[in-house]
Amino acid sequence: MSKRLIVAIDGPAGSGKSTSAKLVAQELGYLYIDTGAMYRAVTFLAIKNNVLRNTKTIIEIAKKSNIDLKFINGITHVSVDGNDITDDIRLPEVNLNVSDISAIAEVRKILVEKQRKLARENCGVVMEGRDIGTVVFPDANVKIFLIASIEERSRRRAKEYEEKSVPISLEEVKANLEQRDKIDSTRKISPLTKAPEAIEVDTSNVTIRQQVDMILEYVRHSAKREGIEFEN
Ligand code: DC
Repeated sequence: MSKRLIVAIDGPAGSGKSTSAKLVAQELGYLYIDTGAMYRAVTFLAIKNNVLRNTKTIIEIAKKSNIDLKFINGITHVSVDGNDITDDIRLPEVNLNVSDISAIAEVRKILVEKQRKLARENCGVVMEGRDIGTVVFPDANVKIFLIASIEERSRRRAKEYEEKSVPISLEEVKANLEQRDKIDSTRKISPLTKAPEAIEVDTSNVTIRQQVDMILEYVRHSAKREGIEFEN
């Protein structure tokens, strides 16, 4: 198998990570991995089992559950032990609790191990999250850190909710994003932070095509530097 790249895309919620990472992966013919979906899956299971305040049980859930991600037709389908929870992990209640769950060190350890395994098994990945370039793959060939203004990020998320007919105001969306940003970037373990060598891309005022092209340019540059050829 030819040598392939690990592309790490980090940034806060609504910065354009999923949109960009999916398209970049598609263009490279690489596997797209949404690590946030894994933290969401554990959070959903904690809610479902009514154990949100029981760290020990949450860790057990993370350890024992077989969380499976399948990317089909632009959507990351998430299942746990064979049950599809793709829609459940995007519920507002999950949004409210996912940052607290993802701050549990042991949960992170378990999920990071799963993420590394996925990448090992699927040589050539675009992985998005909060700590991919800093912790999961500190040696990633390409590290991108996406940012966007809080107004623009809130607007994007509110639009997604509207499309799914979830009744939530722009103010509530903004408050949730601000709260998650705060928890995600101030937690002790693997906080959301830009790796020193990551390239920062502000997506506030660019089109999706422009942001994807910018990332692809960095990817191609890195590939050339490392003597890697693309099949696509
Ligand atoms: O990307 P997202 O909004 O679906 O992520 C949901 C939450 O999961 C986010 O608020 C923080 C957490 N997360 C994390 O801590 N580390 C990751 N690599 C990915 C997500």
